[in-house]
Amino acid sequence: MADKLRLAVFVSGGGSNLQAIMDACASDSFPARVVAVVSNNPHAFAIERAKKANVPALVIDHKDFASRQEHEREIVRQLRPFKPDMGVLAGYMRIVTPVLLDYFRAANNDRPGLLNIHPADTRQYQGAHGYEFALGMDGQSPGRLDETKITVHFVDAGMDTGPVIKQAMVRVLPDDTLEDLKSRGLEVEHELYPEVIAMVAQGRVRVVGSDVEIIN
Ligand code: GAR
Repeated sequence: MADKLRLAVFVSGGGSNLQAIMDACASDSFPARVVAVVSNNPHAFAIERAKKANVPALVIDHKDFASRQEHEREIVRQLRPFKPDMGVLAGYMRIVTPVLLDYFRAANNDRPGLLNIHPADTRQYQGAHGYEFALGMDGQSPGRLDETKITVHFVDAGMDTGPVIKQAMVRVLPDDTLEDLKSRGLEVEHELYPEVIAMVAQGRVRVVGSDVEIIN
């Protein structure tokens, strides 16, 4: 395939979603490829995954910068040679600023150029503990839920906000521990994220105001 969408994947931790994306990209028919991985955490296991797949890993520790903007300016400076078309946040535990948003919007011909995956319905919960929220273990939670909705969305300046592209439901079972729910949820994330990336790469996702239209 000639014109694959060039992805920069952003990570902070284990990188199981990065792995699922790189595995999907290994197929000739997949319409995207990972050109670089960016980690703000020098100890993230995701960096090892990138190295193993021969994908360049840029380790840019946010603690070395005085502000979010300065950190992102350095990310953009180091990313530029890889010419990414779209940024994919995969367990990247940082709120992004207009520095990254504008860079990827420009790279994506003025369309939103950053995706995120979140383990909950972004209209219901924003933050780093989506599975805990579903189990009633998070302070903001109304109690144990019957289900959580894994959400892939375009990124805007908020935390886990932005137009929702696709959701997938994961049932919360009565005996679920956090580990049980996370492991079933991550399996769903690993299917959903590559699917949505492919849809975007094929030009089948259009943003209309704060909504998203899927073209079949
Ligand atoms: C995933 O569950 C992802 O949905 C979540 O972090 C985990 C990263 O796992 N992201 C968020 O909570 C964003 N608010 P991974 O490093 O194994 O891909």
